Amino acid sequence: MVIGIIGSGAMGAGIAQVAATAGHVVHLLDQNAAALDRAGASIAASLTKLADKGKLTREAADAAAARLHPTATMADFADCDLVIEAIVEDLAVKQQVFKQVEAVVSAACLLASNTSSLSITAIAAACQRPERFVGIHFFNPAPLMPLVEIIPAVQTRAGLADEVRALVASWGKRPVLAQDTPGFIVNRVARPFYGEAIRLLEEGLADIATIDWALTELGGFRMGPFALMDFIGHDVNYRVTESVFTAFFYDPRYRPSFTQRRLFEAGYYGRKAGRGFYDYAPGAASPAPTRDKELGNRILQRVLAMLINEAADALHLGVASRADLELAMTTGVNYPQGLLAWADELGPAQVLATLDDLYHEYHEDRYRASPLLRRLARTNQPFLPA
Ligand code: NAI
Repeated sequence: MVIGIIGSGAMGAGIAQVAATAGHVVHLLDQNAAALDRAGASIAASLTKLADKGKLTREAADAAAARLHPTATMADFADCDLVIEAIVEDLAVKQQVFKQVEAVVSAACLLASNTSSLSITAIAAACQRPERFVGIHFFNPAPLMPLVEIIPAVQTRAGLADEVRALVASWGKRPVLAQDTPGFIVNRVARPFYGEAIRLLEEGLADIATIDWALTELGGFRMGPFALMDFIGHDVNYRVTESVFTAFFYDPRYRPSFTQRRLFEAGYYGRKAGRGFYDYAPGAASPAPTRDKELGNRILQRVLAMLINEAADALHLGVASRADLELAMTTGVNYPQGLLAWADELGPAQVLATLDDLYHEYHEDRYRASPLLRRLARTNQPFLPA
């Protein structure tokens, strides 16, 4: 199978490396010659590093590099069986690019977008043969992150998402199937990890270091929400939050915060800018958490209840299966366990009580419990039946 990849930025280069390593001939296209050169060099360096570490044989690394063909002309895509687009996150530009692709490839060639936030259905709508279109959403860095979300559009022909899922699994990835809804699985379900943490901060209930401490030390998350937002970058994280909120027709559950918006406006993007929630200037003191266990547990309980509610609602609305929801959150954002399993451990009734307390306190739709959580709590049933 010959694969074409459009866009050789962070994602396109990573996906090209994955596909070439899996044995495919890969044509990698970018309109920017410098970006294409950088991608070629970074893939070569990455393959060499893998060989140095013994994760790939030298022969396999060399063969993968030889299968990769950077190109500046779409005509080279004529023999492609699958084209994956990873260009700028702009609907009109993506639609235009797929028009060019369809003019070159065969009628059997599959088309895919790696978009994080646009509707797969809307991109497919610009195609002559939208039934061959599907979302294939990798995580950054693509060669290292096992999770891939496969998203059929409304127009996608029956069976195609499963075929693509099997293909991506053959590349050593862990594909999950998601409905074409905003944020797919991970970028939807993870929102409260950031949003509720900021809300706790804004209300003065705890400082950033204490909230991060509660979620890492008491909750077992790898990074606290503030450290993680600083790591992702507020330019990226704020934009995702805003786009999910807009795409959900302004559901208050996903409302962005002024706190993060101001960081974004100030250019305090986090680690890469030297400043975000934390100060990364050389010699800057890092704030110490209070390590108040009672406060920490209250913080954890609240953020966790919101995350579980989001996962429960995604299940309730058929966004993904139980197994795929669990796999997505443990492999896409490295949560210490799946949110449904976590709900069962705490007991759905306990999680519901936390949410209902918040709802009664604030009278905000943000804290409305998923009907599925309410039903399981009432009937004393687990999310994951044995
Ligand atoms: P990037 O900015 O690193 O790379 C985009 C590349 O596309 C650039 O090299 C640019 O020259 C090229 N490009 C733009 N328009 C083009 C066109 N019309 N024809 C050919 N090449 C064109 O962007 P990045 O981060 O790699 O993201 C690409 C896509 O992947 C976006 O849709 C983004 O939402 C999605 N994505 C990004 C993730 C991330 O963490 N960066 C994660 C998952 C998905």
